Amino acid sequence: MKIFIDTANLEDIREIAKWGILEGATTNPTLLSREGKDPEKVLKEICELVPGPVSAEVTSEVAEDMVKEAQKLAKIHKNIVIKIPFTVEGLKAVRALKEEGIKTNVTLVFTPVQALLAAKAGASFVSPFVGRLDDIQANGMEMVEDIITIFENYDIQTEVIVASIRHPMHVLEAALVGAHIATIPPKVIRQMVKHPLTDIGIQRFLEDWKKLNKKG
Ligand code: E4P
Repeated sequence: MKIFIDTANLEDIREIAKWGILEGATTNPTLLSREGKDPEKVLKEICELVPGPVSAEVTSEVAEDMVKEAQKLAKIHKNIVIKIPFTVEGLKAVRALKEEGIKTNVTLVFTPVQALLAAKAGASFVSPFVGRLDDIQANGMEMVEDIITIFENYDIQTEVIVASIRHPMHVLEAALVGAHIATIPPKVIRQMVKHPLTDIGIQRFLEDWKKLNKKG
């Protein structure tokens, strides 16, 4: 499973990119707006920091306008993937962009059949939102499992990006059900690193090493 970072915060991306674990990034209008900077500049910088696809979302609601916006965003960098919300207009835009050779990531997917339609329209990626489903007492990861089964049944090449991840258990579950990608907020990536027994283990090794040096 590939690991993408789910943020538009350049400091977080800069730091975590150095760990060598990232293979892409996702943004959305909320994440870019939170940074309060020129979104095009931020997206370009993310593309320079992260190897792999970087999702940039359109905000138009009509297919023709989505396509125009996508063409502009695609010029920012060769790694830009256009995020398109799951609507009928979005599906039309995905088809048109596929014909132009522009990759898309269909976002705001909440059911397996939405994912199937997005794949049929030609999406390179689909983004099922697990956390937002869990928030309303539905099972986000069951949706992901069903999408993967459908895609495997019919040899569909669209990649599944597990999105709206809230904690490390979501990452574990995404990997166990065979998701292609998990897009993870910086806070959760940092939580994934930590284990108290690792910290205690290091402390003990260092203390024992110092004892040996004292004896020596
Ligand atoms: C990524 O593609 C999504 O936009 C993001 O994961 C949504 O996360 P949220 O539900 O925490 O806003």
